Amino acid sequence: MLKDKCALVTGGNRGIGREIALKLGSLGAKVIVNYRKDEEGALEVVDTIVKNGGEALALKGDVSSYEEAEALIKKSKEAFNNIDILVNNAGITKDKLLLRMKEEDFDSVIDVNLKGTFNCIKHITPIMLKQKGGVIVNISSVIGLIGNAGQSNYAASKAGIIGITKSIAKELGGKSIRVNAVAPGFIKTDMTEVLSDEVKDRLKDSIPLKRLGEGKDVAEVVAFLCSEGASYITGQVINVDGGMVM
Ligand code: NAI
Repeated sequence: MLKDKCALVTGGNRGIGREIALKLGSLGAKVIVNYRKDEEGALEVVDTIVKNGGEALALKGDVSSYEEAEALIKKSKEAFNNIDILVNNAGITKDKLLLRMKEEDFDSVIDVNLKGTFNCIKHITPIMLKQKGGVIVNISSVIGLIGNAGQSNYAASKAGIIGITKSIAKELGGKSIRVNAVAPGFIKTDMTEVLSDEVKDRLKDSIPLKRLGEGKDVAEVVAFLCSEGASYITGQVINVDGGMVM
């Protein structure tokens, strides 16, 4: 389904990004697995894709740096000659109630989640314009829609991602570049592993489908948005949250 396409997944070394990279690889895309520090994780993802008959490459780069994002995209293009799909998945949390939140807690979350998304879109757009098409999927969060006590930095970054998604979708729609966002609810990854069992149980109760999500649940929707089947969808935010927010 994605044969001859090349996809760059930021933070593809673990969690949701890992599942997205594996899914796109299984559909025939050549996958660039970006990582910041965890080379071992990224190489494991690459190995898994290659063992399943696909093509993949791990590339280091901190997306919050304008220059590193530029170099990442340049190397990705050199590796597979084109980049058709960008999945802006890299993200961090630094949860604190506002009164305890330090300036650097706010800045670092915005820098990775929002600026990182901008940096990658900014550097990939000239390539996609030259190719006369492309697909961008940004990983937001339901927290960007509803807010959450202790996550004002994260909620702002994820709401910002929705704003950038819609604006760039309007700017680039006429150039056959589609831009959408996926807003996951609570997905079982290292990021949510820090929550206590009590909190997880309470969350499950509040979710109509009565379970936390899996990385695969998000990867399936990302893969659909990257596919031809989604060719008339742009500027949308798709919740993958078991019905938590509606
Ligand atoms: P995770 O912590 O397991 O993975 C985050 C990934 O981002 C890691 O691969 C990490 O290496 C990468 N990363 C962090 N900073 C980076 C940087 N500066 N440059 C490049 N890569 C960087 O978290 P998870 O859960 O897999 O999250 C993935 C995305 O999904 C994030 O954007 C997160 O905000 C979002 N999300 C997660 C939810 C969840 O419940 N787990 C819910 C809603 C959204």
